[in-house]
Amino acid sequence: MTATIPDLTNHTAIVTGATGGMGQIIATTLINAGAHVITIARNPARANALRSHLGKDNEHRLDIITGDLSRREDLLAAARTIGDRYEQIHLLVNNAGAHFSDHRVSPDGIEMHIALDYLAAYGLMTYLDAPLRRGRARIVNVASDTLNDTRQVKFAGKPRPATLDLTHVDNLADLNPHKGFVPFEAYARAKLMTVTAGYALSRSFAPDGVTLNALHPGIVATGIIDDLVPPPLRPFGALIRRTMLTPADGATTALRLATDPQLAGVTGRYFNQGSAATTPPISHDPAVQRKLLTLSEAHFAS
Ligand SMILES: NC(=O)c1ccc[n+]([C@@H]2O[C@H](COP(=O)([O-])OP(=O)(O)OC[C@H]3O[C@@H](n4cnc5c(N)ncnc54)[C@H](OP(=O)(O)O)[C@@H]3O)[C@@H](O)[C@H]2O)c1
Repeated sequence: MTATIPDLTNHTAIVTGATGGMGQIIATTLINAGAHVITIARNPARANALRSHLGKDNEHRLDIITGDLSRREDLLAAARTIGDRYEQIHLLVNNAGAHFSDHRVSPDGIEMHIALDYLAAYGLMTYLDAPLRRGRARIVNVASDTLNDTRQVKFAGKPRPATLDLTHVDNLADLNPHKGFVPFEAYARAKLMTVTAGYALSRSFAPDGVTLNALHPGIVATGIIDDLVPPPLRPFGALIRRTMLTPADGATTALRLATDPQLAGVTGRYFNQGSAATTPPISHDPAVQRKLLTLSEAHFAS
């Protein structure tokens, strides 16, 4: 499986999580097609390795901004730097993400799945609003189909979609609490939040020609998988990886949504690899979308 990428000369793209896994392939492919790529990376050594991997002819087309996407201060600083340096953004691929096997909280008091797998994408979409609109950007959010089924082992029973109850929530810090914490469900909830907010933001972006879609890349043999394989199956890790998509195959869906001319104008959709797919009804509820955006805005304003 490969994506055919059009010429992207004069295109400016942001790709998060470009120091590993699928993000590295997404960023490299866009650069090889002529794009200028900006990434926000927390680890300078891994960012420099990405630059070396590009080679002499292409390394000048990568702009590395240092920052931890799970920290509000770093995200806002990165967005300011990008806004100062670039008038227009043509592509934004919110790809950075992680699964945390225990309950962790960001320096801002937010559970880590929410901080990284949701708020980083929300923050870049919101604080780069103007350059995204000027570039009539395509925004692509890498979610996960765990939002449709939180069972880690799917042999028995029915799919168990992720839940999102904001009824009594006044602060995003109240979501995914320590009490009753189930890592896979917490991860899936954050991805569900990304899709839910994305549907609302796609409507607000539409008048300016900005499109916003989300995706599940498939089950892909990257770093995140080591943590996602249930403990009883870990001794068979190498064998299990061989049944998965390669990072290059996994990157195809994001690359297609970001660049395929046939998908120009398609917005507010969720794709499970190559096919348009549904997400839980709550993600389409306008009241839930509004409340989520209000809580997210309050997080960055505080
Ligand atoms: N692999 C799968 O089967 C699968 C399935 C569904 C969805 N996804 C989603 O696909 C996306 C890409 O994941 P992957 O599988 O390619 O995983 P990966 O190989 O672990 O890559 C994750 C990337 O995110 C970056 N990152 C993590 N925490 C960060 C932080 N605090 N600040 C800045 N960057 C950070 C990592 O940077 P470092 O180099 O600093 O670690 C790395 O570049 C994620 O959103 C994931 O949830 C993956």
